[in-house]
Amino acid sequence: MTGVNRKLGILLSGRGSNFEAIHRAIAAGTLDAEIAVVISNREAAPGIETARRFGLKTVVMPSQGVPREQFDRELVRVLNDHQVGLVCLAGYMRLLSGYFVQAFPQRIVNIHPSLLPSFPGLDAQHQAFDYGVKFTGCTVHFVDEHLDNGPIILQAVVPVEEGDTYDTLSARILAEEHKIYSKAIGIILSGAYRIEGRRVVSVS
Ligand code: GAR
Repeated sequence: MTGVNRKLGILLSGRGSNFEAIHRAIAAGTLDAEIAVVISNREAAPGIETARRFGLKTVVMPSQGVPREQFDRELVRVLNDHQVGLVCLAGYMRLLSGYFVQAFPQRIVNIHPSLLPSFPGLDAQHQAFDYGVKFTGCTVHFVDEHLDNGPIILQAVVPVEEGDTYDTLSARILAEEHKIYSKAIGIILSGAYRIEGRRVVSVS
């Protein structure tokens, strides 16, 4: 598709390994996109330091104590200032307001460390491990007003092995996250899909 806005706005709150994986995919030429800005709602997020080191445009917007919609209005303004076409949540640990979601209709994606709709919310890896499932994984999905909801773009399955600990399982899930997030972004930017109800269907 021509004229697609390939400028990504990355939102993160912590480590930023998914952001780094997206950055690597772009550098390797496997993802045709550009990171226009990396925004953190936490000053101490290691991911924002990494983004600075990479020479990317960074913005820190402390969110603590700021009313959700007021914060999100400012966030939308910053993303628009950078002409962002696709917002990528990469470990962004803050609920988005309806205002934000409506500002970027079907233009916000999130990665979650479980096979949704199982184990939404915080620490999905712990939830899955403690529940005793034999398979878990990760999900890239469009973001709507509800937590870890929205049409699913890609998922990867990770088997839970005998002898797994929370740490070994989390590490294998994370390795899959790093693969499918860039792939899902590539699908969206290709425009070769349509959304039918909750289903994201490929079109050729
Ligand atoms: C990732 O595991 C991501 O799936 C999860 O936070 C971690 C961030 O790691 N996101 C959520 O749980 C969202 N509900 P990272 O900062 O190294 O990318």
